[in-house]
Amino acid sequence: AAQGAVLGLESSCDETAAAVLAGDGTVLAEAVLSQEQEHARFGGVVPEIAARAHLRHLPRLARAVLERAGLAPGDLAGVAATAGPGLIGGLIVGASFGKGIALARGLPFVAVNHLEAHALTVRLPGLIEGGPPDFPYLLLLVSGGHCQCVAVEGVGRYRRLGTTLDDAVGEAFDKAAKLLGLPWPGGPHLERLAARGDPRRFPLPRPLLGRPGCDFSFSGLKTAVAHLVAKGAAADEQGRADLAASFQAAVAEVLADRAAHALAMLPAARALVVAGGVAANATVRAALAARLEGAQGRNRVRLVAPPLRLCTDNAVMVAWAGIERLRLGLADPLDHAPRPRWPL
Ligand code: KG4
Ligand code: ZN
Repeated sequence: AAQGAVLGLESSCDETAAAVLAGDGTVLAEAVLSQEQEHARFGGVVPEIAARAHLRHLPRLARAVLERAGLAPGDLAGVAATAGPGLIGGLIVGASFGKGIALARGLPFVAVNHLEAHALTVRLPGLIEGGPPDFPYLLLLVSGGHCQCVAVEGVGRYRRLGTTLDDAVGEAFDKAAKLLGLPWPGGPHLERLAARGDPRRFPLPRPLLGRPGCDFSFSGLKTAVAHLVAKGAAADEQGRADLAASFQAAVAEVLADRAAHALAMLPAARALVVAGGVAANATVRAALAARLEGAQGRNRVRLVAPPLRLCTDNAVMVAWAGIERLRLGLADPLDHAPRPRWPL
């Protein structure tokens, strides 16, 4: 069952994660440790704290998943670790640890691009009802650190169609949430608050809506929220909820518009894949689904969303990307340097 098993390691931001997958993609064991508690009082991820926490927890997590998978390191067919993009301290911890195991056991090492791991997650066998989408598909990656549209044309074949000109969308959620007095990370709190609000109360800007291409911009939207808060719009509970709902509606509309533009740039795509923490947002998902409705037959594009635990950062996707690359003979040398900035 464990033929061709690969150990995956993730440490690019504030999740420490390890997973063991069999060569056919079966998840044998996985573990994710969020550092949210350690960063919350600083209102954001502190790179130095993150790196030290990865160093403290990763060896233990790796040992635990191997044990649960019933494997020794020598039984593995390869080791895959996120080598970028991300915070350099954490990347060095994860990649070095992975290389150490690979070196000691004479295994191939795969330096995984974190964005590629998000892009290929939906290809995990059995994950998506109705089967994985065919290439090419459109990836809408919406997280705290990333906001981009990527044409996924094959393993190792990606084209970035658009990206954010300022903040990532998760960052925008977190900043708006902070203005509303919510704890970090604010996205989920803001969504809960918005459920009691009127999304039409405050007509907020829709940055870049209708513009050609599929770039994003969120800083103006955040500034608009800040102005309203300064004028007392969030002074009472209903005002806060209405402002949260209005913000969320603006973001959802912009994301749906940008995704539609990206799809027009990739007419062969039959699937829109959403990934990243913001993909958890029900209003965002509904806006994307609504935008895809209407087209029939061959022009239909389906909305594909991995289950939430695989939308946010995890090591299953890293191990899977490793397996996909190893199948193509794409291992990396042990002197591969982690890259904090590493476009697909
Ligand atoms: O993918 P992720 O877990 O980590 C990275 O940023 O790589 O994404 C976290 C981001 C945070 O900004 C968080 O506020 C946002 O995703 N988020 C949400 C929701 N859940 C998480 N934003 C809006 N609505 C949500 N339900
Ligand atoms: Zn991520």
